[in-house]
Amino acid sequence: MGYIPEDILQMIRETADIRQIIQEFVPLKKRGRNWTGLCPFHPDKDPSFSVNEDKQIFYCFGCGEGGDVIKFLMKLQGLSFVEAVRQLADRLNIEIPERPVSEHRKKEYAERDAILEINELAAAHFSTNLDSSTAAIKAREYLESRGLSRETIKNFSMGWALDAWDGLADFIEREGKSLELAEKAGLIIKRTNAPGYYDRFRGRITFPIKDHAGRIVAFGGRIITADTPKEQPKYINSPESPVYSKSRVLYGLFQNKSSIRKKGIGIIVEGYMDVVSLWQFGVTEAVGTLGTALTEDHARRLKGITKDWILLFDADQAGIKAAARALPVCYRHNIRPKVLCLPEGEDPDSFVRKEGRKALARLMEQAPAGIDFLIDHGVKKFGTDTEAKVRVIEQVLESISAVPDPVRKSLLVSHVARKTGVREESLWHKMKMDSPRSGASSRQRRNVAGQGESAKQQAAKTVFRVSNRAEEKLMGFILSYPEFINDFIDQGLEIWLPENSLKELWNAVVSLYNMAEKCDLTTLCSRLEGNPAMRSFAMRLAAECPPCEEKTAMLAELRQFCHARRKKALRAQLLDEMRTEDSEEHSMELLKKIQGLR
Ligand code: UTP
Ligand code: MN
Repeated sequence: MGYIPEDILQMIRETADIRQIIQEFVPLKKRGRNWTGLCPFHPDKDPSFSVNEDKQIFYCFGCGEGGDVIKFLMKLQGLSFVEAVRQLADRLNIEIPERPVSEHRKKEYAERDAILEINELAAAHFSTNLDSSTAAIKAREYLESRGLSRETIKNFSMGWALDAWDGLADFIEREGKSLELAEKAGLIIKRTNAPGYYDRFRGRITFPIKDHAGRIVAFGGRIITADTPKEQPKYINSPESPVYSKSRVLYGLFQNKSSIRKKGIGIIVEGYMDVVSLWQFGVTEAVGTLGTALTEDHARRLKGITKDWILLFDADQAGIKAAARALPVCYRHNIRPKVLCLPEGEDPDSFVRKEGRKALARLMEQAPAGIDFLIDHGVKKFGTDTEAKVRVIEQVLESISAVPDPVRKSLLVSHVARKTGVREESLWHKMKMDSPRSGASSRQRRNVAGQGESAKQQAAKTVFRVSNRAEEKLMGFILSYPEFINDFIDQGLEIWLPENSLKELWNAVVSLYNMAEKCDLTTLCSRLEGNPAMRSFAMRLAAECPPCEEKTAMLAELRQFCHARRKKALRAQLLDEMRTEDSEEHSMELLKKIQGLR
């Protein structure tokens, strides 16, 4: 899946019209030479999001997000690079050739597609059952008793698996689809004592599970008796399959992601019914982990949509434990977690049904940050004597040691220090002692001191602010008209550019140019993938550069500007040297040189 030939990539970039594609998601208005609209990546009151067709880039002056069309789709839909490129290729009717060697891979893809198709068919079958089968009366009554509306049932494509051994198996055979593949999809199971297959889901309400792109990859099924009989689990789920890995998929994410993005905050719950019922009450920001622990892959998906998430778990021991376990995962991915524990005996579904949406919103507003939850909850659990406090602090530090952003980590440690009355230094020390690789390398040690892990990551969090407008304009021109880079390379920009951020960007431009003999914005943008702040900075400068009618005149002017700046920098250097020069003879020489630079 991960292979896309460079020339195809190039073609996709050149064919895709960034404005047209963005306009499908964000209403844009022409303003001057740019198109502007409300930024989909942060709550935006004034249109601060701009799209530049000439340069094929977007940039938000509010939140600093920026990049090319691929970046836009990645960010907006939480896709990987390859997924975004494939989506574009599909739209543009550009075929991405399979890697020539991978006959095997080809087969895998074909099989996956076939399984997805069977899942789609099965969902339609279950849904028809629920709508019209006389045998589904009990199911309809059950859903009614749980207060679910038709609209909700439809939105989540819920259905009914007949209470029979071969309701679905028969259907699949009638449709002429492969039973073997249906077995691989986890829908039917091979009989052991006779030929043939039987249905996995029997007499259950079905919940199709969609992946981030809306494909049905698995199902959940709930029995419809109020009390769970001992011999049957309340829910069963599809097993892992070529299209389903439960550690990657979140229930409801596909249906709710645009709402989450709009609100800037999402809710993580445990159950199918929680997601569904919250949706019906207008809380359309929930995703479900389906009773499993939150995984790293989940967190990666989630943070692509928004950084703010509330863990909304049952108030029981299991729920609290799940929250505590999910927190380090969130912290590791720079998610800002809050934790909301509902009153004893309630789950999100029962709570919103009883108390309504407003009551839930009030609780959500008061939800403590993950770190406070850990401290408060720890104190409740272990007590307040010294030993108990040590245990609480251990747990809290373990959680935040995962935070990759050193600035944020440092703020969290200060917070813990204030709240527990333990000196900050001791906390850092403790964290260092407990870190699994403590003392392993100097890099690791610096990390523990809250400054290390990578200067890069730290820089990524800094929004570049440069006051030197002239230099910014110069850089904007260079980025917009990369054909002139050669004209600037001999101007020694690295000596005199006034800010590290500008210097660093210039170095990135030069190194790309040296490597590829060109430096177009999209390539630069993908090269800066690991440094979002720098990418955003570059996109802003390019976005701000006006189209230039008289390019050569502008070039001459800018070269003169560079020349003057360079002279000034050299003079300053010489003056410095002169100040420390003892020999009169040398001083005179320096003075001459300085005068020559006027
Ligand atoms: P819960 O037992 O909290 O169920 O399990 P629920 O979501 O509140 O469902 P209702 O309201 O009783 O209908 C939470 C989640 O754990 C998984 C399911 O994903 C469920 O939604 N689970 C639970 C199972 O996979 N199997 C089970 O037998 C029970
Ligand atoms: Mn429930």
